[in-house]
Amino acid sequence: MKNLILVTGGTGYIGSHTAVELINEGYEVVIVDNLANSTTDSLDGIGQITGVRPAFEEFDLCNKPRLEKFFKDYPGLKAIIHFAAYKAVGESVEKPLMYYRNNLVSLMNLLECMNAYQVPSMVFSSSCTVYGQPRELPVTETAQILPAESPYGNTKQICEEILRDYIRSVEGIRAIALRYFNPIGAHPSALIGELPRGVPNNLIPYVTQTAAGIRGELKVFGDDYNTPDGSAIRDYINVVDIAAAHVKAISRLLKNQNKSDFEFFNLGTGKGSSVLEVVNTFEKVTGVKVNYKIVGRRTGDIEQVWADTTKANVELGWKAVRSLGETLLSAWNWEKKLRGIK
Ligand code: UFG
Repeated sequence: MKNLILVTGGTGYIGSHTAVELINEGYEVVIVDNLANSTTDSLDGIGQITGVRPAFEEFDLCNKPRLEKFFKDYPGLKAIIHFAAYKAVGESVEKPLMYYRNNLVSLMNLLECMNAYQVPSMVFSSSCTVYGQPRELPVTETAQILPAESPYGNTKQICEEILRDYIRSVEGIRAIALRYFNPIGAHPSALIGELPRGVPNNLIPYVTQTAAGIRGELKVFGDDYNTPDGSAIRDYINVVDIAAAHVKAISRLLKNQNKSDFEFFNLGTGKGSSVLEVVNTFEKVTGVKVNYKIVGRRTGDIEQVWADTTKANVELGWKAVRSLGETLLSAWNWEKKLRGIK
């Protein structure tokens, strides 16, 4: 029998790519999502890529009675990958309670159900945002956790603390938090990818929409940082590489290979790229020009961050393998498919 994995937020960007990798590795997947920031189109995409359309239940994880029913309906779950959360930094500043309620309550409901229904393992979607602007680069998992820059970032920190404290207090639950750097790109089939609503906040969707003519010009936020070309540096990592790390984390938990009941790993490439390098690489691999203008820094942005990935490389046996160029091309192919551009 296949191991059954619950993927919350599985119709979303990283969740859908992870569902594909899980199915390809022989797991059975059930997705729970309230479609707050996604559509069921991704279920069709997952089905087309893998030949298996995963089971899907549409509800909000904050609805505890409904979640209890789910756990009764799906006995024998082996693990949960918990992606479902709000994730827009700016929106979280405007609506902090909405962020705290959704991101914290959904995790706590899941943990209570894991205990009640004997589901032993969770992989939690965390973020490099927990490090803020680290003093030393590349940033390792032992770096200090700095005060969060936004309510969104704070929910990730608090969720990690909730996991740590709860796992300490009960027997038989273990978790791995994966701290993502900047996930970008789309599945090479262009059947699933990122679907930002409205004006994108993140760099890559803004770049692809500008290249597609939907946005007039990209604003590059700041060229006066203390970096080689003056623009800010991030560790951009292919979403399929990120998805593959989740499969490794699940396997580690199911095989009891984890060294402690709560572990965390950085997921990045180990290499930083500046905003201007991203734009130049995009233009080179796609042959499409991106109109851009340098403007002032964006409030709350840090100067530079990239990951030390040694721990994930050695202990998870995982490494990012896709190049920035290949990844940007996949993002462009996805944008073209969405807009019907030949
Ligand atoms: N940028 C631009 N123009 C844009 C959008 C972004 O120049 O239109 C720049 C940003 O200033 C930054 C870089 O591109 O230097 C990356 O920006 P993103 O918004 O794509 O990503 P961030 O690094 O700001 O955000 C990521 C995650 C968040 C997380 C945050 C923590 O998306 O979930 O890191 O720093 F909270």
